Order: sequence, then C-alpha cells, then structure tokens
Amino acid sequence: MSPRPLKIVVSFASSAGVAPTADGADAAPARVPARRGRKPKVAADAGGAAPRRGDDAGAGAPAATGVVVVKVPAKRGRPPKVRPDVVVPTRAAATEQAEPKAKRGRKPKPVAAPSSGDVGVQAPRPRGRPRKVKAAEAVATASEISDAVDPISAAQSIAPLTLCIDIGGTGLKALVIDNAGHAVTERVRVETPRPATTDAILRALLQLVAPIGAFDRISVGFPGVVHNGVTKTAPNLDVSWQGFALGDELQELLGKPTRVLNDAGVQGFGVIEGQGLEMVLTLGTGMGCALFIDGRYVPNLELAHHPFRKGKTYEEFLGAKALEKVGKKEWNKRLKKALDQIDPIWNPRLIYLGGGNAKNVRIELPQHVKLVSNVAGLLGGIALWRM
Ligand code: BGC
Repeated sequence: MSPRPLKIVVSFASSAGVAPTADGADAAPARVPARRGRKPKVAADAGGAAPRRGDDAGAGAPAATGVVVVKVPAKRGRPPKVRPDVVVPTRAAATEQAEPKAKRGRKPKPVAAPSSGDVGVQAPRPRGRPRKVKAAEAVATASEISDAVDPISAAQSIAPLTLCIDIGGTGLKALVIDNAGHAVTERVRVETPRPATTDAILRALLQLVAPIGAFDRISVGFPGVVHNGVTKTAPNLDVSWQGFALGDELQELLGKPTRVLNDAGVQGFGVIEGQGLEMVLTLGTGMGCALFIDGRYVPNLELAHHPFRKGKTYEEFLGAKALEKVGKKEWNKRLKKALDQIDPIWNPRLIYLGGGNAKNVRIELPQHVKLVSNVAGLLGGIALWRM
C-alpha cells in the first residue's frame, strides 16, 4: 500500500470531562511512528511537547477508534465507604513511594528506601491470624474499586509533570500527575488497536495524549519484559515489540525524557508500603507479577508464563481469555488455587491484586491480600524517576 496523507484531529478535553473522539481513518497522529532502525521524522504536538512538523503518516496501521475519559463524579454527601482491605492508590501513596518527603506533622513512610542490608529480615504480615473476609463482603469490596481520579488544576500543580502511560492488551491509558502525585488531568483511555503493532500503538498513543496538556517527562507501563527502555517480550501484543526501543521512540516523538517499566512494576509502585517482601499480581488481558523488597523493585518476574496446572500457565488459566471462556465462578476458583500455590512459595508480607479484572474477584481474601484500583497502574509512574 502506498502512503496516503493523513491529518490529525486535535481538540481539547472540555471541562465536562469529555475528550474528543478520533475521526475514524482521518484521525491519525501527525507522524508515522518510527520503525526499528529508522529515525522518526515528525514529532507530535502534545500540548507543549515537541512541535509537529508535518503530515507524513504512512498507511497500514489502524487509527484508534475513540478516546474516552473515565471519570466517576464524586458522590455528594457522605464520603464513600472504603474497606480497610481495599487499597485505593492515593496521591500521597504514589508520592510517598516515589519520594519520601517530610510532611507537616507526619513522618514520611519508610518506603522505597534503599535496603538496610538486613537481608532476610522482613516486617511481619499484618498482625493476627489471617482474617478471611466473607464472600459477600469480598463482592462489595471488588465493586468499590474505582478507577476515578480527581484532578487538581494545573495552576496548583507542582513541577515536574509526568505523563503516565499504561499500555495494556485491551486499553491504552494516560494521565498527567504532578511531583506530589496529584492527578493534573483526567484519565483518558482508548482501545488497544489490533493488530497491536509498534506502529499502531504509537499512533494511538500520540492521538490519545495530543489533547492532554503540558508535561515534562513520560513514564510508561508496558505489558512485557523491559530492559533499559527496550521491550523484549509482549505476549499480548504483536511480535514487532521484540527488541523495540520504546523509550527512545517516545522520547523522540513527544520530545520529553521517557522511562519504561513492566506494567505490573509500575502498578506496584502505586500501592506498595515499601516494607518487606510485597507482591503485586495484575489480572487483566495477561497476568502481571511484580516483587518489591523493602520498596525496591525486582524487575521482570514473569510468573504469568510459568506452568501452573495441567500443562497450562498461570496466564492461560487466569488471563482475560480464560475468564471469558470459563466464566466468573470458575475463574474465581482458579484464582484461589493460584493464590494458594503462589503464597506459600514466595511468602510475601502483602499481596496486591490489581488490573482490570480485579473487579471480578469474588473469593474470600486473607488479610494480607488486598484489592487495588487499576489507576495505580498510572499513579506509580512517578516512581520511575526515583529508581
Ligand atoms: C506479561 C507481563 C505483563 C502481564 C500483564 C503478561 O503476559 O508477560 O510482562 O506484566 O502480561 O500485562
């Protein structure tokens, strides 16, 4: 196919919180995302990022189908009930993981601090015998997980601003947060284009972030193994991601320094306490796993592809395809079996269950297993700049 000229439709999110929807085939980013080995030609104009230099988009990659701003309006009246075993990542959590700093009247949490060197000495699990929550409560708990964010105004924000991107097998999400972990924009989302090639995803990302406003740096959560900004595997995307210099490409395209980490790792930075061994399991298109020791990330633990039962891997048993195939009841039974196996092998002090399908969890959870919001996948992005 010969390249055809494409134009980008850039409009800005209204105060009502609705971002523009891309205009089908005409709505493509301003440049062709560079292929491996080629230098990008034109950078996107993402609200103060590098200027766009023209329209030379190539053919082939499908345009993103639309942009949706996910925002649940705050309820009036009584504050929402949040059970103690639901971890809803807060601005403070993300900030404290990233950059413990003194707060008025409060000692900073000892999180993400360098290990003391006391290898093998670990903070205990939450006290008391593991308390099982009743099934009915677990349902309520899962339904309380909200991906809403409540942005502050840009004028109130503290520089630098980080554009946090979460590349998922089903959705691409983005949000700008300030240096104190406050969301400065709403969370925007677009379906992951299929086939999920490097070109198609970069195009969709440029389109997604074009109206998002100014930012100073970029953090990306990627669903596969990442070494120094280069993606090595991407089981739920396209083979073109093997050996793709994603960090460099985005930096070139958006004109801002970029860091990339495995998505479960980013999610973890948004929720961990920074004490002892903490494990994050994400239940989405794939199954993510991240380990943290005293707040330090152990990179690229790919438990998802380890054999679990009957010759199948954890991901084959618990990924989105499996959920769709066997239904919630059976999927929950599988999740329980998986937790029963993982827990006594790794003995983490805390296990966090996140990802888009955490909302489908219906099993009884021991006290040290917590459900977390998917927004953590974005808020953790700030920590990448403290590593
Ligand atoms: C990948 C992991 C990723 C997980 C969740 C798995 O298929 O191997 O690296 O964290 O999916 O996206």
